[in-house]
Amino acid sequence: MAGWHRETASSVGVLLLLLLLLSALSSGRPQKKCPGDKPCQSSRPPVVLIPGDLGNQLEARLDKPSVVHYICYKKTDTYFTLWLNLELLVPVAIDCWIDNIRLIYNRTTHTTSAPPGVDVQVPGFGQTFSVEFLDPSKRSVGMYFFSIVQALVEWGYTRGDDVRGAPYDWRKAPNENKDYFLALQHMIEEMAEKAGGPVVLVAHSMGNMYTLYFLNQQPQAWKDRYIKAFVSLGPPWAGVAKTLRVITSGDNNRIPVISSLKIRGQQRSAVSTSWLLPYAHSWPKDQVLIQTPKTNYTVQDYQRLYKDIDFEDGWLMRQDTESLVADLTPPGVEVHCLYGTGVPTSEAFQYSDKFPDVEPTVLYGDGDGTVNRHSAMQCQRWAGKQKKNVTLKELPGNEHVNMLTNFSTVAYIKTVLFAP
Ligand SMILES: *[C@@H]1O[C@H](CO)[C@@H](O)[C@H](O)[C@H]1NC(C)=O
Ligand SMILES: *[C@@H]1O[C@H](CO)[C@@H](O)[C@H](O)[C@H]1NC(C)=O
Ligand SMILES: *[C@@H]1O[C@H](CO)[C@@H](O)[C@H](O)[C@H]1NC(C)=O
Ligand SMILES: *[C@@H]1O[C@H](CO)[C@@H](O)[C@H](O)[C@H]1NC(C)=O
Repeated sequence: MAGWHRETASSVGVLLLLLLLLSALSSGRPQKKCPGDKPCQSSRPPVVLIPGDLGNQLEARLDKPSVVHYICYKKTDTYFTLWLNLELLVPVAIDCWIDNIRLIYNRTTHTTSAPPGVDVQVPGFGQTFSVEFLDPSKRSVGMYFFSIVQALVEWGYTRGDDVRGAPYDWRKAPNENKDYFLALQHMIEEMAEKAGGPVVLVAHSMGNMYTLYFLNQQPQAWKDRYIKAFVSLGPPWAGVAKTLRVITSGDNNRIPVISSLKIRGQQRSAVSTSWLLPYAHSWPKDQVLIQTPKTNYTVQDYQRLYKDIDFEDGWLMRQDTESLVADLTPPGVEVHCLYGTGVPTSEAFQYSDKFPDVEPTVLYGDGDGTVNRHSAMQCQRWAGKQKKNVTLKELPGNEHVNMLTNFSTVAYIKTVLFAP
């Protein structure tokens, strides 16, 4: 029996070798034929995934001088998952969590830092696990880029090789993530060299603002050489009205056990929240975004708003970051803009005289439930302003995060990847 097994094994081995040889021979041909009999260099462009706000895991290690509650850990030996870990988001434990994930803004240096004794790191740069599931236990509630990565694998891709994630500290804006952009540039170059052809960038939500900022920093020659296309999913090019509620009264959105006011401090401390406030370049200047019995606030009234909600550091954060992509300079690469519509999306907020410490009445407009339609569609301003094509695709009925799992999104990405 054993001998028979060995013989079968070795003939399987010979077969495998033959197959390998054959495939090596065929890939060694100078030019593969693509449909239409045109030559094409790489049948499978590498893919880099750039997540949005809250869109990748974060880890922390503690050695704190003090804690806010006796049940909080003061010191940990190793890094633990800070985002997303649902066990930390329950009553009382959430106070510890807020005190670890918040940032402290320095008005002199215009930079943020973690509270004393909190060391936060971004796991998984160059891999996909940190953007596939936000919760390492892979609960479906934290499912993110998983469906797209899984589809790519079925089309022949390999995780951590020709499909990779580019997670970052999404609490901050690009001005405080300089090392990230260098790492991203090197990773793209390495992947392109290895594949012998340019890379496709797939970004979601705020990741699109990060990607635009990155591409705006690169010379055109670099982009022509290294970027095949930029697939932009749910992009908030002109900001998101919902962030106004977040800084004013907090937003517990997806986690109902959390009190909005309690989480507001942490949400305000994330500079990226103020970065994503609606932009005057696209928002009607006289549209009331926040209404109180005393005052109306439009995109032109942010300084007053920050003062009235007693968050004046926020006005500094906004000024630090507003110019990063405010002119919406064309990315200079082929762009595919996919955006959900038909989902009620916060557009304005009415507050009672308890403003700002109260939940508002929300007025809804069109969008994907998070990003306002008008903001997502701003990629149309690039059409004709750059050499490469700009394509917009509306996805009716698609919610902001669920669009990542929708068949139409995945199918569209496939057409971009395998376009001749
Ligand atoms: C802010 O940064 C400056 C310069 O590094 C430092 O001297 C100052 O102590 C910091 N302020 C706070 C409140 O930490
Ligand atoms: C705010 O705007 C609304 C219309 O959008 C108007 O009816 C109201 O009088 C305004 N309130 C103040 C205080 O200006
Ligand atoms: C760009 O768009 C035009 C018009 O839609 C189309 O004919 C052309 O094939 C596109 N070019 C590329 C490279 O996709
Ligand atoms: C998926 O997208 C299509 C096209 O936009 C839409 O008709 C459909 O309702 C979406 N499905 C889900 C489950 O969101």
